[in-house]
Amino acid sequence: MIRAFRGELLSVARDPRGDAGAVRHEADGLLVVEDGIVVARGAYSDLAERFAGMAVEALPGLIVPGFVDSHVHYPQMDRIASHGEQLLDWLDRHIFPAEKAFADRAHADAVAEAFLGELLRNGTTSALVFPTVHAQSVDALFEAALARRMRIVSGKVLMDLGPEGLADTAETARGESEALIARWRGRGRLGYAVTPRFALTSSDAQLAVAGALVAEHPDVLMHTHLAENVRECEAVTDRFSCDYLDAYDRFGLVTARSVFAHGVHLTDRSCVRLEESGAGVAVCPSSNLFLGSGFFDFGQADRHGFRTGLGTDVGAGTSFSMLHTAGLAYQAALARGDRLDPFRALYLATAGSAALLHIGDRVGALEVGQEADFVVLDDAATPLLARRTAEASLAERLFALQILGDDRAIRRTYILGDCAWERGA
Ligand code: GUN
Ligand code: ZN
Repeated sequence: MIRAFRGELLSVARDPRGDAGAVRHEADGLLVVEDGIVVARGAYSDLAERFAGMAVEALPGLIVPGFVDSHVHYPQMDRIASHGEQLLDWLDRHIFPAEKAFADRAHADAVAEAFLGELLRNGTTSALVFPTVHAQSVDALFEAALARRMRIVSGKVLMDLGPEGLADTAETARGESEALIARWRGRGRLGYAVTPRFALTSSDAQLAVAGALVAEHPDVLMHTHLAENVRECEAVTDRFSCDYLDAYDRFGLVTARSVFAHGVHLTDRSCVRLEESGAGVAVCPSSNLFLGSGFFDFGQADRHGFRTGLGTDVGAGTSFSMLHTAGLAYQAALARGDRLDPFRALYLATAGSAALLHIGDRVGALEVGQEADFVVLDDAATPLLARRTAEASLAERLFALQILGDDRAIRRTYILGDCAWERGA
């Protein structure tokens, strides 16, 4: 099956800082997709002859790669907007009670369905997802993602020091993770991540199990939280008597396949280690603002040059929209004196997050050979957006979409070249 789409194409395959060639824009472009894979892309005038005779579908709007959410919790979607607490109290009061309900497979199935629908309506086609401690919460998410052909990476949460009803053990963590890896490896577009919740909810024995799993399965990711909240950081120092990242490093959890959410309060020592290991940080500005955690330091990250991507962190994050999250990243950066360029923000929301998740060869840039996951953006989705983007430059339109846009600006979401969601349909 071969299909051709004509429209305005924009992607940012590499970090555009000091690399203007990273931004690829065809004002009148052609995208040709065969069996879900991009087989040609370029200016319509350059490609029209080669594909003469093929039916061409015109897409109204700005076509960008599907967004990649590098950190999000599906079981927390119904606790979004829970009032009144910073991280540790918010977990105890709002989140742990909600996660206990995922012992029930039918509940997990229902929420997983709603969650993936919400990703698509926001233009997100790939994500690295926290489920709960329950193995069946992973099965529920993976089954739903397989049916929708989405690129989802997840893995059972490890938390043997968690509250009653949510705590596993070092042994069940190993056994259940091994079983899930065996059950899901190589299926559809799914990937597995060994997922210790954070240093405070795992015993040393369980962190060692996580390290062993990572060492024994070179194809899996490691996904956890790092240096998000001041009180959390103090508790980590009290228990481990070392730098936060070192607490993970001791157990073999800092590798090129490690994704750490937040990193709001990083020491320079941690930054050096992140860079040399190839590990990276999922930056989550919506969450950091909502929980009063602070502002990610883009200047520090850039000085050290470790990898970064962008995550919503729903339910601490308050929006599924990666556009809106990119706009908040701009504001978080500016709070610390840094100007986040809108093309760089698009990079972080697409190819940057894809690289962090080690799926950058497959998605994130709409290059030939990549999977055809893409979004059609409407830069006149609201009256205000229409006014602000009329006669604006590309950079201004993109920035307006990030500051003013959200799910309303997603006209269509395509998975492997097929329309998987359409606004108003
Ligand atoms: N740290 C440990 N667990 C969580 C969680 O569920 N959300 C956030 N934002 N931080 C965490
Ligand atoms: Zn999180």
